[in-house]
Amino acid sequence: LAQKTLKDAYKDFFPVGVAVSARGLTGPDADLITSQFNSITPENAMKMGPIHPEPNRYAWEGPDAIVAFAQQNGMKLRGHTLCWHNQTPRWFFTDSSGKQVSREVLLARLKQHINDVVGRYKGKIYAWDVVNEAVPDTGTSIYRRSKFYEIIGEDYIEKAFEYAHAADPSAKLFYNDYNTESASKREKIFQLLKKLKEKKVPIDGVGLQGHWSIYEPTAAEIEKSITQFESLGLAVQITELDVSVHPKEHERRAHRPTDNGTLTAEMVTRQTAQYKMLFDTFRKHKGTITGVTFWNVSDKSTWLDNFPVPNRKDYPLLFDQNLQPKQAFHEVVDF
Ligand code: G3I
Repeated sequence: LAQKTLKDAYKDFFPVGVAVSARGLTGPDADLITSQFNSITPENAMKMGPIHPEPNRYAWEGPDAIVAFAQQNGMKLRGHTLCWHNQTPRWFFTDSSGKQVSREVLLARLKQHINDVVGRYKGKIYAWDVVNEAVPDTGTSIYRRSKFYEIIGEDYIEKAFEYAHAADPSAKLFYNDYNTESASKREKIFQLLKKLKEKKVPIDGVGLQGHWSIYEPTAAEIEKSITQFESLGLAVQITELDVSVHPKEHERRAHRPTDNGTLTAEMVTRQTAQYKMLFDTFRKHKGTITGVTFWNVSDKSTWLDNFPVPNRKDYPLLFDQNLQPKQAFHEVVDF
């Protein structure tokens, strides 16, 4: 009996994607990627540091390989990410004597960077995470105090979108963030996006990263984010989905069961139910949700193995350490 796949199960809803590295595109991983998914996102390769390590030098090799893989296999490709406070090299903000650059210089660099990267893959990347994580988790300001904000001011965000739109007018442009279901951050992100829409900034959608756990969020919290952002005329994508079996810091404080790092039957049961709930919710918002991407391929290796606790194994995905589908996979494809 041929087993169902994610991409077939969801063909009438949205593409199902996965974050990849250039090195991970061979062997059994590549087979799983091409058989289950119809979209990929480079996990790190297109970020400013990896792709633009020095002024006037781009490292195109990894990104080019990922683009070629998508094309050869008829997969969609999401670009990630053009402007982020993390993984941006120090040279970007300083001149040759180490002094911080002016607003004009930083804007010119941002424009050049976006023009070069988006321009190179024009027509091959259907959606870009243009600005990533610009809203802070705490405080009342809607703007994270990043170098981009400090040097340029709040309009660095709209400028980034304008540069990206100019470089590839048909690419779908996204604002991407995490913790989008916490009430206060949801509201701040909403205010930012509303402002951008009012200013006619070329933004098409919002990415809810979806770094969730077996405890949170609830369906109601997710739906509130989806419908609120949809009300601005924006598409919604889940861009970095994983469901950690370990409680987040604030969840630990909420008297969750003690967790010594080992995988328990209760974790598996909760994770299966959480994944079912998530995809039931996504299907309800057919039309608004235009993509769901997992952040890594299988439990064999995930960024959560080292975050937030170094060397604590996590099991956040639909495929186990041997690349076999977990019970959560079956809940997701059988509906
Ligand atoms: O490439 C170097 C390697 O040369 C070096 O030997 C090694 C030693 O630590 O580090 C390697 O770089 C690491 C890189 O991943 C590639 O593996 C970095 O240290 C590490 O910090 C980096 O982590 C990435 C993280 O973003 C950076 O903040 C994760 O892989 C990646 O999954 C994660 O992805 C982010 C999204 O882009 C945005 N949203 C949150 C998400 C999770 O943090």
